[in-house]
Amino acid sequence: MSNESNLHRVGIVGGDGIGPDVVAEGLKVIAAAGVELQMSHYDLGGDRYLRDGVVLDDATIEEWRELDALYFGAVGSLDVPPGLIERGLLLKMRFALDLYINQRPFVTESHDFVVIRENTEGTYAGEGGFLRKNTPEEIATQGSVNTRRGVERCVRYAFELAKTRRGHVTLVHKTNVLTFAGDLWERTFNEVAAEYPDIDTGYNHVDACCIYMVEDPGRFDVIVTDNLFGDIITDLGGAVSGGIGLASSANLHPGSVSMFEPVHGSAPDIVGMGKANPTAAVLSGALMLDHLGESDAADRIRAACGDPESLTGTTTEIGDAIVGRL
Ligand code: IPM
Ligand code: MN
Repeated sequence: MSNESNLHRVGIVGGDGIGPDVVAEGLKVIAAAGVELQMSHYDLGGDRYLRDGVVLDDATIEEWRELDALYFGAVGSLDVPPGLIERGLLLKMRFALDLYINQRPFVTESHDFVVIRENTEGTYAGEGGFLRKNTPEEIATQGSVNTRRGVERCVRYAFELAKTRRGHVTLVHKTNVLTFAGDLWERTFNEVAAEYPDIDTGYNHVDACCIYMVEDPGRFDVIVTDNLFGDIITDLGGAVSGGIGLASSANLHPGSVSMFEPVHGSAPDIVGMGKANPTAAVLSGALMLDHLGESDAADRIRAACGDPESLTGTTTEIGDAIVGRL
């Protein structure tokens, strides 16, 4: 991994829909914050797939292993079968680079919590299949894969992070129904917690977590949860924290190449209209700068994104306004 004295090698993947537009604003803000990136641009996403059938080839993944970070826009195209690019590009990237932490911070004037979403296992692992497909007796299964190692490294990351924050970790799961996966998560959580006597812990079922997130989000500091629950509650986290247009994320393999992307998708309904709020991409860029050892610039960018209600206008106008505040 690089630090301030090194060149930062960053792969840029704008992707589909509004992805390229918001990434362009993020790069503008990073440059204005005084950080130089050595960029390689990758033309991937729905358009590329329609042109030559490539979603993500192995040679590209091998190139990415030599980078410090990837800065990603969004995937999802109406012209391509649903799931094809999501699974073949975004999830493949997360799995192939073993980006096992999906870190999603949610900060407003009244709350400041971060969700640590396990990013390589659970129902996203692709376990399952069809039996008797396209018959009246068709069966589809989709299992949840939870390894002790995968759960433990994620839980441990959450406890380490809590040490640098307010010292509280909440496990979110559904142990009352998912008695196998939930049991593994709960046992692992409790064993790791015993190593961190100074960290307070809590547990919420995922459905109850949704109520608390709306009614009393200030109770949360660090939430740790599985892949699918994390996907769902981070959309809710965005909704209660100024909207999904502000929600940023880091897909991390600590100490190795990691990927940074807004939580939102490609928003095909507003493509080309200049309506996309680039703040989520800009804040994801700040998370990338943290990873690159450029935390001063990252903090300045976060400060410039403060008071998000006052950031209005088109995609480029909002980017310019953030630059103006730097
Ligand atoms: C996210 C997205 C992805 C996910 C999709 C696009 C595959 O919703 O990053 O939250 O489900 O992880
Ligand atoms: Mn999601």
